[in-house]
Amino acid sequence: MSVSKGSRTVARKLAVIGAGLMGSGIAQVSAQAGWDVVLRDVTDEALRRGTDGIRASFDRFVAKDRLTAEDAGAALARITPTTDLDAVADADIVVEAVFERLDVKHEIFRALDKLVKDEAVLASNTSAIPITKIAAVTGRPERVVGTHFFSPVPMMRLCELVRGHKTSDETLATAREFAESTGKTCVVVNRDVAGFVTTRLISALVVEAAKLYESGVASAEDIDLACKLGFGHAMGPLATADLTGVDVLLHATENIYTESQDEKFAPPELMRRMVDAGDIGRKSGQGFYKH
Ligand SMILES: NC(=O)c1ccc[n+]([C@@H]2O[C@H](COP(=O)([O-])OP(=O)(O)OC[C@H]3O[C@@H](n4cnc5c(N)ncnc54)[C@H](O)[C@@H]3O)[C@@H](O)[C@H]2O)c1
Repeated sequence: MSVSKGSRTVARKLAVIGAGLMGSGIAQVSAQAGWDVVLRDVTDEALRRGTDGIRASFDRFVAKDRLTAEDAGAALARITPTTDLDAVADADIVVEAVFERLDVKHEIFRALDKLVKDEAVLASNTSAIPITKIAAVTGRPERVVGTHFFSPVPMMRLCELVRGHKTSDETLATAREFAESTGKTCVVVNRDVAGFVTTRLISALVVEAAKLYESGVASAEDIDLACKLGFGHAMGPLATADLTGVDVLLHATENIYTESQDEKFAPPELMRRMVDAGDIGRKSGQGFYKH
């Protein structure tokens, strides 16, 4: 449903594609901000995991008196989980948060372009793939934008808005309005480089930290401690890799490397072997640390 605000019609119906770590977080903060949210994933199991995570997160906010049980219940009721892609057809904004693979994202955006109304904004939560590449398979590249939220979404205050080569000012404004409605502060990436600003910075840091660790220069604990105590970072790069997922960061870094051909983004073999072995961080119980 859209609501009237003065002479403008303000978007109010959101669809989120992918109920994983990010998609469920985006659905949660949006529902809390009053959006009606359709949350779509490919299996009931993925949807159940996503909605269980949202419920558990709301419970923690309620336990800390940061949200009333009534508001949490109302927000949960605004989320409609579904495996049916057609259910997103009347959304004002669609945020895609599926795996960080261009082929998977292309499949989604092709389908969305056919399905969703012309004036809807199509956003991607990609951490590193150029928005222009994603937008290219649609007939509305001016309506495609990056809305890069951070994990854990309910806690992290940043949303990095990314302009594709053809993204319109209006689309960027709608994306900003949406992100700010969820309580986030936005930064704008004006030129669509792979990895944008934030993923380029964290990838460079994680790659160097993993190389130092791989070559035995220092332990994972000491590398992270150096960043925390030396630079005031809240979390070290290797702990960040475990939290984000070594697999997610490896994909992001590979994308940046492929695009930029800049050697500093060449991921060390250790990260590939960790992903081969399933040691992808907190999600699997083992990454640079045991969890
Ligand atoms: N993990 C992070 O910290 C983080 C931070 C910022 C951005 N991102 C980006 O957000 C996106 C999602 O990352 P994530 O960590 O939530 O991944 P995830 O693996 O936790 O979740 C991805 C979800 O997408 C679903 N999916 C796959 N194909 C689908 C389809 N065709 N339709 C609907 N759902 C589908 C999967 O079933 C899964 O539930 C990626 O582009 C990633 O780069 C991740």
